[in-house]
Amino acid sequence: MRKAMAGAEVGDDVFLEDPTVNRLQERAAEIFGREAALFVPSGTMGNLTCLLAHTHPGQEVICEEKSHIYNLEMASMSAVGGVLPRPICAEDGIMGWEQIARAIRPKIYSRAQTGLLCLENTHNMAGGSVYPTKLAHGICAAAHDAGLRVHLDGSRIFNAATYLGEGVAEMTKKFDSVQFCLSKGLGAPVGSMIVGSRSFAERCRSIRKMLGGGMRQAGVLAAAGLIALEKGPGRLSVDHENATVLADGLSRVPGIRVNPAKVQTNIVIYDVRQAGFSSSDFLAELARRGVRGVPVDREKVRMVTHLDVDRHDVEQAVETIREMVKSSS
Ligand SMILES: Cc1ncc(COP(=O)(O)O)c(C=O)c1O
Repeated sequence: MRKAMAGAEVGDDVFLEDPTVNRLQERAAEIFGREAALFVPSGTMGNLTCLLAHTHPGQEVICEEKSHIYNLEMASMSAVGGVLPRPICAEDGIMGWEQIARAIRPKIYSRAQTGLLCLENTHNMAGGSVYPTKLAHGICAAAHDAGLRVHLDGSRIFNAATYLGEGVAEMTKKFDSVQFCLSKGLGAPVGSMIVGSRSFAERCRSIRKMLGGGMRQAGVLAAAGLIALEKGPGRLSVDHENATVLADGLSRVPGIRVNPAKVQTNIVIYDVRQAGFSSSDFLAELARRGVRGVPVDREKVRMVTHLDVDRHDVEQAVETIREMVKSSS
């Protein structure tokens, strides 16, 4: 990947003249069966760009309560977009149409109107859970009937595709826009893609420029993105197997609460309270022993398997946690 970056053919992408960025965008559009794609620096900017393209200030955006767009994107939809999130709490982060329908504002002139529905697949803070494609299609169809557009935060859509054994084009075809990350599991150092219609991508290009995301010789990044896109998805099943090994191992550590049956992709969330730790104390002590995770809340910890972590690392992490919990009790 580093060699491809060093050797990348470049031009000025603000003038649409970077051949490597253009190739990446064409390839992403092709893989998703869409007219166009746009390279953006991050998932956060990709989501915000789509949100700004779909909504206008004063509208509401329906999203899941644990969603990244609601919790972990600096309240950008409100701060920058002037829209109000309308969160819905759903088990495992997977919303159903009945819940969504109840959150749509009635068309009364004196009420804020619902401008967009946003789904997340896989759902990060719900532990990498996956939307069944039939459910996602049904939600999109019903939303369209209700006059609503639907954006997919598909940062880890290839993990969902791996779990389901389906193709991303079929899974995402009913969404009005999709953002997916080349970074994270696919392994690029930087970058996300927006996919959708040609006119939507063109609108997003202007918004990306407004947000400061117009890049010049970005081909060095796109070269890494192309490798991530072509080679990354094929190895995600290894991360999923490792996540299952991690969850199985943790479920046998006294005081750690985790349900391995809930682990579908590469994210494991577990509760450390009964082991006598808060999540922050647990993670601080664990970091001293060379294993890293992030807190979900005061009691829960999140770990992710990825291409820099192999089976041996996972087994070692479980042993380190076992010893740490034992020595503290
Ligand atoms: C579901 C989801 N959406 C969006 C993002 C944002 O991506 P980025 O870190 O590239 O801004 C993340 C990052 O973890 C994520 O998990």
